[in-house]
Amino acid sequence: MPQQVSGVIARSVGAPVELVTIVIPDPGPGEAVVRIQACGVCHTDLHYREGGINDEFPFLLGHEASGIVEAIGSGVSDVAVGDFVILNWRAVCGQCRSCQKGRPQYCFNTHNAKQRMTLLDGTELSPALGIGAFAEKTLVAAAQCTKVDPTASPAVAGLLGCGVMAGLGAAINTGQISRGDSAAVIGCGGVGAAAIAGAKLAGATTIVAVDVDDRKLATAKELGATHTVNAKTEDVVEMIRQYTGGNGADVVIDAVGIPETWQQAFYARDLAGTVVLVGVPRPEHRIDIPLLDVFGRGGSLKSSWYGDCLPSRDFPMLIDLYLQGRLPLERFVSEEIALGDVEAAFEKMHHGDVLRSVVIFP
Ligand SMILES: NC(=O)c1ccc[n+]([C@@H]2O[C@H](COP(=O)([O-])OP(=O)(O)OC[C@H]3O[C@@H](n4cnc5c(N)ncnc54)[C@H](O)[C@@H]3O)[C@@H](O)[C@H]2O)c1
Ligand SMILES: [Zn+2]
Ligand SMILES: [Zn+2]
Repeated sequence: MPQQVSGVIARSVGAPVELVTIVIPDPGPGEAVVRIQACGVCHTDLHYREGGINDEFPFLLGHEASGIVEAIGSGVSDVAVGDFVILNWRAVCGQCRSCQKGRPQYCFNTHNAKQRMTLLDGTELSPALGIGAFAEKTLVAAAQCTKVDPTASPAVAGLLGCGVMAGLGAAINTGQISRGDSAAVIGCGGVGAAAIAGAKLAGATTIVAVDVDDRKLATAKELGATHTVNAKTEDVVEMIRQYTGGNGADVVIDAVGIPETWQQAFYARDLAGTVVLVGVPRPEHRIDIPLLDVFGRGGSLKSSWYGDCLPSRDFPMLIDLYLQGRLPLERFVSEEIALGDVEAAFEKMHHGDVLRSVVIFP
């Protein structure tokens, strides 16, 4: 029997989100229904609401979540009813040209549920990143459920489902930061702060945090930044160079995703260094730099989707490090809120008041 639960939707561009009743079908073949325990508010949810991702409104928002598998469809063997899982937006297909080349972390054909969740009048919802977890329950492809140690806090575990994984992975997977490297991170919200933690985990010696908000810089320091730069009052490129012996950093991560910050990242890296773009640009953004600088400075210019993570490999490993006290993931949960507070959380994010607001389901 289809179930009716509460969920948060974005009905049209820019309109405040609404808490409404949605319909969850029973899981079909290869699908699972998950009872959500916690779901973080990511900037990407706001991008959806602002029409910055696509125009397939209405969206069922929320995608950084953990929960308990409530029901599975036929043919599902990797997860069972009762499992504690983190939802992922990279259920790899195993068959696309990238998977076939042994690079499933770039899978071009990831799985989502085939059936659609709907409003009461039958209107089909577009779940954010194929998840839609600002809802008491959600329907996903079973492979979007990654089993992790159930002793982990649901609020903390859920954050690995998107932003924190994106940041950690931008540093350790895409940026390949390693012992003795210098790194800089521009934008220290949930994603950038995780990149700082990732740079520390990987053994970077100099870690420069850049933000326009001193509160974010203070948190970045607690997570491992060795130097901070306030982009409102200081020259970002100049300061990163100064803190890296005049050279620039080996790896610079742009966790804002606007032309200005990407350009700073480009010029604040050492010769042959790496730029990692993890912030999501808007469709109208353009970049104009001399091609000779691209050639002359060498190195690599990379984008990082989801921190190039492989959920089955990375989620359990990072949860273990967290449970061992070696990765302070609990620092990312700024506040616990209710399902009706998502719009207020967007406002707090906008004002830089939080790293992550996390919706907790009673
Ligand atoms: N690539 C991926 O897989 C992926 C995954 C999740 C999120 N994202 C994207 O990453 C970006 C960051 O997400 P978030 O949740 O951390 O957002 P956030 O709003 O929490 O953080 C953004 C931070 O950037 C700072 N900032 C803004 N303008 C700046 C500037 N000019 N210079 C320096 N700092 C500046 C803000 O003060 C804030 O601390 C978003 O674009 C989001 O969509 C990407
Ligand atoms: Zn694939
Ligand atoms: Zn996200």
